Amino acid sequence: MTVLELREVSKSYRLRGFLRQGPELQVLAGVSLSLRRHEILGLVGESGCGKSTLARLALALEKPDQGEFLFLGQPYWRLPRRERRNLRPRLQAVFQDPAASLNPRMRIGDLISEPLRLQGVSREETRDRTLKMMEMVGLPEEALSRFPHQLSGGQRQRVALARALITHPEVVVLDEPTSALDVSVQAQILNLLLDLQHRFGVSYIFISHDLPVVLYLAHRVAVMYLGEIVEMAPAADLEKPGLHPYTELLLASIPGERKKRPVAGEPPSLLRRPYGCVFHPRCPEARPLCQREKPPLRRVSREHFIACHRR
Ligand SMILES: Nc1ncnc2c1ncn2[C@@H]1O[C@H](COP(=O)(O)OP(=O)(O)OP(=O)(O)O)[C@@H](O)[C@H]1O
Ligand SMILES: [Mg+2]
Repeated sequence: MTVLELREVSKSYRLRGFLRQGPELQVLAGVSLSLRRHEILGLVGESGCGKSTLARLALALEKPDQGEFLFLGQPYWRLPRRERRNLRPRLQAVFQDPAASLNPRMRIGDLISEPLRLQGVSREETRDRTLKMMEMVGLPEEALSRFPHQLSGGQRQRVALARALITHPEVVVLDEPTSALDVSVQAQILNLLLDLQHRFGVSYIFISHDLPVVLYLAHRVAVMYLGEIVEMAPAADLEKPGLHPYTELLLASIPGERKKRPVAGEPPSLLRRPYGCVFHPRCPEARPLCQREKPPLRRVSREHFIACHRR
């Protein structure tokens, strides 16, 4: 069953120029993806390709310019405000920097329990569920009365997770949740994420620029380039040949790979989106057709889609 779906969504921002309007920046160009119940969908791509913008659309924090956002089968932005408000708690977020997303003046206990109090849950029940949640994310009870700055980065991210899960949401969107952490702490948090996903039966959209991390966690992977999804595949398929040339380059640029080579060239600007295939200016396999015609996202096997003329 599909819990969340973005259908052909586009999003542009009007840049502000000095004393006059600037150009329009198209960040997302007709992106479609769907998240199934109990699934971890990984979203990977270089900095600036539009991952956080996609996250904001999937969290219903922003409305797409075009296309549709469906949550639990319902066209979210066409629902009456009251129904949207009821759906909101079932959709939660964890961001990269918990220091910025957690109110520094609130105690940990209040930060974690706030979503329950907003729902009018009784004091006793709130306290019980908060303590239980803290135990599940590996926070000591003493942390209850502390403030965010008195915790480590890893502990703060545990607080953000506890706060996101305490209402038993359907979907959690995690935008680079471990990118600011040390490698060792990162591994702990990734394992905690897997454990919690299992226990709560929740679905994740897991966003990262770090492909190995995405491969470790995700059941399915969406590869994004310049505001478009160029490949969508089960994580296991990324070990097979015949991937999108961009995905192949991302895999080859993983440190420790035998033939490590970085993805050549700078990602082109969203302001000058290439004609035809968005990846053709950097693609080692580009042909004249790739400059002329945009390849559609085409099914190559049951759950594997590629937007490439050469595959
Ligand atoms: N509100 C906004 N107004 C104007 N431009 C924006 C806005 N939000 C995002 N952008 C632009 O859209 C592009 C994509 O940004 P986004 O944050 O979605 O990328 P990202 O893939 O999350 O990058 P990173 O990996 O660095 O987090 C960037 O060029 C950014 O400057
Ligand atoms: Mg981002």
